[in-house]
Amino acid sequence: MTMEKKLFEPAKLGNLTLKNRLVRSALYDGAARLDGGLKDEAYTLYSKLAKGGVGMIIAGFTSVSDNDRYPGGMLPPSRDETIPQYQKLVDIVHRENCPIITQLALTGYYRGNTQLDPTDMTLDEVHSVIQMFIDAARRAKCAGFDGVQIHAAHFLFLSQFISPAVNRRSDSYGGSTENRMRILLEIMTGIREKAPNLHLTVKINSSDFVRNGLDAAESLEICKALAKAGIDSIEVSGNSPSVPRIRAGVNEGYFAPFAAALAEQVDVPVIAVGGWRSKDTMEDVLKNTKIEFLSLSRPLLREPDLPNKLQSGACTVAECVSCNACYSLQGHCVYRIRGKRIF
Ligand SMILES: Cc1cc2nc3c(=O)[nH]c(=O)nc-3n(C[C@H](O)[C@H](O)[C@H](O)COP(=O)(O)O)c2cc1C
Repeated sequence: MTMEKKLFEPAKLGNLTLKNRLVRSALYDGAARLDGGLKDEAYTLYSKLAKGGVGMIIAGFTSVSDNDRYPGGMLPPSRDETIPQYQKLVDIVHRENCPIITQLALTGYYRGNTQLDPTDMTLDEVHSVIQMFIDAARRAKCAGFDGVQIHAAHFLFLSQFISPAVNRRSDSYGGSTENRMRILLEIMTGIREKAPNLHLTVKINSSDFVRNGLDAAESLEICKALAKAGIDSIEVSGNSPSVPRIRAGVNEGYFAPFAAALAEQVDVPVIAVGGWRSKDTMEDVLKNTKIEFLSLSRPLLREPDLPNKLQSGACTVAECVSCNACYSLQGHCVYRIRGKRIF
C-alpha cells in the first residue's frame, strides 16, 4: 500500500531527508561580486530563504569555467579560493536544518574569446568540459554542500550538447541519443568517483520546444538512462522555463504532465518545477501523481518565508504574479524593491 504524500512532511530525497517536499529551484540571484567573492547580501538572502521553511535550497547557478561569459553575480566554483566563502554560506543554511546543493553550469564553451558550437569542439575540449564539472563538484564537496545539480536545461551548454537541434558531431559524442547524452554520464561517473557522497541531481528539459530539438520522448529516454546510471533525483524543466502570468488553480505546474509521466517510469524522485503558486494545486499533484517534490523559484524571491506561511495557514496562495521583472533585476523582486524590502 502506498501512503498518500503530503506537502508538509519529512521526505527522503536520495541520501537527504527534507523537512517538507518544497525545494527552492536554482535562481540566479546576483549574490556574487564580479571578482567571484560573495556579497554580504548573499548570506542574508540564503539565511532568509532557509529560515523561511523551504525543504532544500538549490543555489543560483554557478559556472564551472573561469572562461565562461555571464553577467556578474554568479557564484563561480571554478577556483579553490572561493571555497571558504561557500563554506560560510552552507553553514548559515545548515543551521536552519535545510540542505543546500549547488547548481553546476556552463553557459557556453569559449576557445579564447570565441564561443564554440558543441559540434565544433575538439575531443580534448569536450573532455576538458567534463573535467571542469568534476572539479567543481569536488570544490562543492569541500565547501560542505549536500549535493550538486548538473544544469542540463534551458539551452545552456549541456542542454545544447544533448540536443539534436544543436549537436551535429559525428564522433562518439554526437548522433544517437546514447552518444549525445554520453557527456552527462561521464560527468556523473567522474563526480561519483571524486565526491561519492554528494546528492547528484540533474535539471533537464522535458522538451526544447524548438524544431528538431529534444522532444518529450527523447527526454524521457535520457532521464531513464540517467536513473539507471544512478542519478539521485531529476528536476524537470524546459526551454523558456519561467512562464509569465501564472494564476493559482489556472495554469500552475506547466511541466507537471511530463514530470508525472517520468515519475511513473523511474524509481528515483522526480522534482517538478514551473509555476507552482497554490497549496491546493501542489497537494493535488502530490496526491494524484508519483511526483515527490515540487520546486519553486520566483515565488520565493518575493516571499522567502512562503513555505512557513503555507504550512501555518497564514496564506494559501503565493503573492508572486509571475511578471518576470526579476529577470531584468538580477534576480531581485520588483515588489520587494518598491517596498524597500530587498533582503
Ligand atoms: C531571475 C531568474 C533566475 C533564474 N536562474 C536560474 C538558474 O540559475 N538556474 C536554473 O536552472 N534556473 C533558473 N531560473 C529558472 C527557475 O529555476 C525556474 O525553473 C522557473 O522560474 C520556473 O519556476 P517558478 O515558476 O517557480 O519561478 C531562473 C528564473 C528566474 C526568474
